[in-house]
Amino acid sequence: MSDAPLIRVRGLGKVYPNGYRALTGIDLDVEAGEFVVVIGLSGSGKSTLVRCLNRLIDPTEGTIEFAGRDVTTVRGAELRALRREVAMVFQQFNLVNRATVLVNVLTGALERQATIPSLVGLWRRADREAAMEALRLVGLEDRALYRADALSGGEQQRVAIARALMQRPRALLADEPVASLDPATSHSVLDYLRELQTKQGTAIVANLHFLSLAREYGTRVIALKDGRKMFEGAPTDITDEVFQRIYGDEAKQVEIR
Ligand SMILES: Nc1ncnc2c1ncn2[C@@H]1O[C@H](COP(=O)(O)OP(=O)(O)OP(=O)(O)O)[C@@H](O)[C@H]1O
Ligand SMILES: [Mg+2]
Repeated sequence: MSDAPLIRVRGLGKVYPNGYRALTGIDLDVEAGEFVVVIGLSGSGKSTLVRCLNRLIDPTEGTIEFAGRDVTTVRGAELRALRREVAMVFQQFNLVNRATVLVNVLTGALERQATIPSLVGLWRRADREAAMEALRLVGLEDRALYRADALSGGEQQRVAIARALMQRPRALLADEPVASLDPATSHSVLDYLRELQTKQGTAIVANLHFLSLAREYGTRVIALKDGRKMFEGAPTDITDEVFQRIYGDEAKQVEIR
């Protein structure tokens, strides 16, 4: 065991192939059981940062360590192992609409498989039980046999979270997980993420568009501006002055809900 944080990022930078510099010199530590919220204007680099953490995007500078291991350039089996431990949910839930909720969650148990059984009976019993447990965690066990597209947006996002849970991740990355949901539904989804954070010690790193949600759910908030970290602190440290620095002239247009 080491005292290293679960995720340790140093000097992270990203220049896209077209030459655009999206991130510069990002340092970040994330401990188990934290809920880190990333905020910033559109284009400030939030998605780029979060996607670098599980190497969906390859950084061009700096290092990423996960549980004390350098994962900055891992490939193949090691990269797949990283992606199992650092799961991800997106704004678009990416469910298989025609499949049942349970089958969608079961696919989270797969690392890589060419064909996915569409009949629940073809899955291993242990996987089926784990999938039902994941659905219980997000309050949807009674929807297991519904088609995914018969669920509301918030329910679909909770299915996506349950699918991610099948990987038994130690960290869960979320890129605008509630951006397409109404305020009440946003809260219900974020409440489930908070339960994972507090009850299972899962580290959560989420980009959130609304400052009010960042304040409510974040144990720590990171603000990006032009690809640089320009603020890091407790939600209560975001004073009007900090808010003005984060959002600048566009502060007036930032919706606060
Ligand atoms: N594949 C790419 N190639 C070139 N530039 C890119 C690429 N992806 C993103 N960018 C640019 O990098 C910058 C940061 O993008 P990113 O998606 O990380 O921003 P964001 O903070 O998530 O914005 P939003 O709030 O709109 O989602 C933007 O200016 C974007 O246009
Ligand atoms: Mg984004």
